[in-house]
Amino acid sequence: MRVALVKAVIEDMPKIWKMQQEAFSGLLEKYQDTDTNPGAESFDKLCQRFHEPFSSYYLISVDQEIVGAMRVVDRKDGSRKRISPIWIMEPFRNRGYATEAVREAEKIHGPGHWGLYTIFQEKGCLHFYEKLGYHQTGEIRHIKDQMDLVACEKDSICYRAMSLEDYDQVYALWMSCKNMGFNDLDDSREGIARFLRRNPGMSYLAEDDGRVLAVILAGHDGRRGYIYHMSVSEEYRRLGIASRLLELSLGALKKEGINKAALLVFRRNEAGNAFWEKQGFFVRTDVAYRNKELTKLIRIDT
Ligand SMILES: CC(C)(COP(=O)(O)OP(=O)(O)OC[C@H]1O[C@@H](n2cnc3c(N)ncnc32)[C@H](O)[C@@H]1OP(=O)(O)O)[C@@H](O)C(=O)NCCC(=O)NCCS
Repeated sequence: MRVALVKAVIEDMPKIWKMQQEAFSGLLEKYQDTDTNPGAESFDKLCQRFHEPFSSYYLISVDQEIVGAMRVVDRKDGSRKRISPIWIMEPFRNRGYATEAVREAEKIHGPGHWGLYTIFQEKGCLHFYEKLGYHQTGEIRHIKDQMDLVACEKDSICYRAMSLEDYDQVYALWMSCKNMGFNDLDDSREGIARFLRRNPGMSYLAEDDGRVLAVILAGHDGRRGYIYHMSVSEEYRRLGIASRLLELSLGALKKEGINKAALLVFRRNEAGNAFWEKQGFFVRTDVAYRNKELTKLIRIDT
């Protein structure tokens, strides 16, 4: 089975509209929810949605045959991405195509941080989303007698303190990030073990299903806090993950009575500098950064 998402163009919209009407006719008949049911959407409204800069329509194809379609709302502003709506045409249902289509959408738009509304009374729909990792938030929108929409969210990203067992994944993540500076001793397993021992509970990571996708190293010398190697895996950027990690590390430093934190970032690292500027880490132009190697270090610049 080869489920693929094909980005729809405006010429596909008459076909999508026809499919949408047909696919949702059963639910429309059952609930008569003309304000919320996609089956009652006019062609003009559908085209209006097509032109929204944050909406993407996809045809769901299996071995070149169109079996359904979906719309993804992705504002790219850190807000939840949304599937609204998705459908598989009647003859193709119960074959796992919708599950595959949602997974494909997560590959295109990035995993984690999704949300949607589904009909509370349709246990099959709820089960479908729960199997995909969504959970009900408790928010319920009462639409009419015997019909409510329930909010579901999917957030597979979790944050926790880094430990030495994470080293291999963390190192691989560092090496995949451009414009960073490492060396053979401080960033070796032994170097990081020493750093974590001396600064327990200050370095954090974000993981998704056991896969490390972001990390921050933080520690202090009793006076100043220092941050090293903040990295977020490319496909998870601009989701607020680095901001959250920084918040955790700065919170831990503050708890230790540290009043100021500093870091180094290559001037050529535009994304890094934009991030730190946004976080209020301003460039000092009145000081010269000086240092001296006490042991010969081999630089590893990415
Ligand atoms: C820098 C980096 C850590 C940011 O991670 P992130 O999770 O994408 O950052 P956030 O989503 O928390 O960004 C918060 C804000 O920082 C700014 N910012 C982050 N990345 C930016 C970029 N590429 N361009 C411009 N501004 C950026 C934005 O203001 C952003 O808010 P917005 O998305 O609402 O506009 C990430 O790009 C990265 O891992 N880069 C490679 C490693 C690196 O260079 N690390 C820094 C050196 S120490």
